[in-house]
Amino acid sequence: MNTLLSELSDVGRDPAGGFTRLAWTSADLELRDWFVARAGRAGLDVETDGNGNLWAWWGAELPGTAVVVGSHLDSVRSGGEWDGPLGVVSAFAALESLRASGWTPTRPVAVVAFCDEEGGRFGLACLGSRLLSGAVEPQRALTLSDDSGTTLAEAMSAAGHDPRRTGADPARLARIGEFVELHIEQGRMPLPNGAHGLAGAGHPVGVAREIWPHGRWRIDLQGVPDHAGTTALADRADPVLAMAGGIVEVRRAAEQLGILATVGRVRVLPGAVNAIASSASLWIDARGEDPGRVRELVALVEGRLGVVADPESWTDTTRFDTALTADLVAAIGGEVPELPSGAGHDAGVLSLAGIPTAMLFVRNPTGVSHSPEEHAEESDAAAGVAALTAVVRRMVR
Ligand code: GLV
Ligand code: MN
Ligand code: MN
Repeated sequence: MNTLLSELSDVGRDPAGGFTRLAWTSADLELRDWFVARAGRAGLDVETDGNGNLWAWWGAELPGTAVVVGSHLDSVRSGGEWDGPLGVVSAFAALESLRASGWTPTRPVAVVAFCDEEGGRFGLACLGSRLLSGAVEPQRALTLSDDSGTTLAEAMSAAGHDPRRTGADPARLARIGEFVELHIEQGRMPLPNGAHGLAGAGHPVGVAREIWPHGRWRIDLQGVPDHAGTTALADRADPVLAMAGGIVEVRRAAEQLGILATVGRVRVLPGAVNAIASSASLWIDARGEDPGRVRELVALVEGRLGVVADPESWTDTTRFDTALTADLVAAIGGEVPELPSGAGHDAGVLSLAGIPTAMLFVRNPTGVSHSPEEHAEESDAAAGVAALTAVVRRMVR
């Protein structure tokens, strides 16, 4: 556990390991309360926007657009403690160190915690930033449902947030001059010099060049439900067999195309041990440098299974702002590795919405993420805070 994250270390601990902090659950609400309290201690003014994103302002009344720093607080199921929260706690720490040094902003500065970045509950990642930027229609988002059939609208209402407030918020977007998201490094991505990841390059922090295009698709396979003890094998229409074949096809197509594709979620209904299933669904997460290959994978799997996949989300290649990234590099000083990201981020959504956006990565020695094993060394997290502090100081000249 890192001292930066110590205040959050009891929230949403999963008995299966790691942390489960799905949007609008009690763990998420606890984290949201923490954000409000933390901002209050830092002397920042907090507001919740219509989409559930949390903002903590320093100098909101100052002229000009804001430099916004932050990330998200929710997690995947049994995820690590760093993905998301590191960016939020580092943002608070950076602003506090600026305040302690006697520095005051000449334009607004804000910490943001975007709502439901992982899509771990309702299936669509970066919901808060997508709603904010208009990349998803509120009507579509609000009717998404979790495993127990609770819709996003119902989950928001239960948490005291009026779902009628969701939707594109161009006025708020227009207040963002630049967005910088600090994030734990995920994977050990190849660098131009042949090294892999920040560990291979020997640097505590790096910057992101781009986010690979990525999407999620669902395939539903229908069967004929029947008794497991009385139906001859030859007489069965078992969708679980087709699903298993589909999972193998996803892997085969990914190898053929040289991209990444994963089936990390399946659903079998009704889910009885002694019944042939009535339906089986699998979700494909596919990503890679070349968007054409990612789409080709889905087409290949559709062709091989004779089905049509339902697209649940798509995010095109995101190239971060080169001028802002150059500012990050200059603020950090010296040689700073530039990495691609295979993971999606709210920074990508904002970038696609036309906001100058950049990312800082903090070294993760193994690269393991979305897992309890996710880790950064204390000194590297401190280097991340120092880099973010330098960036804000440089941007608010
Ligand atoms: C977000 O973490 C993603 O799945 O890319
Ligand atoms: Mn994540
Ligand atoms: Mn993240």
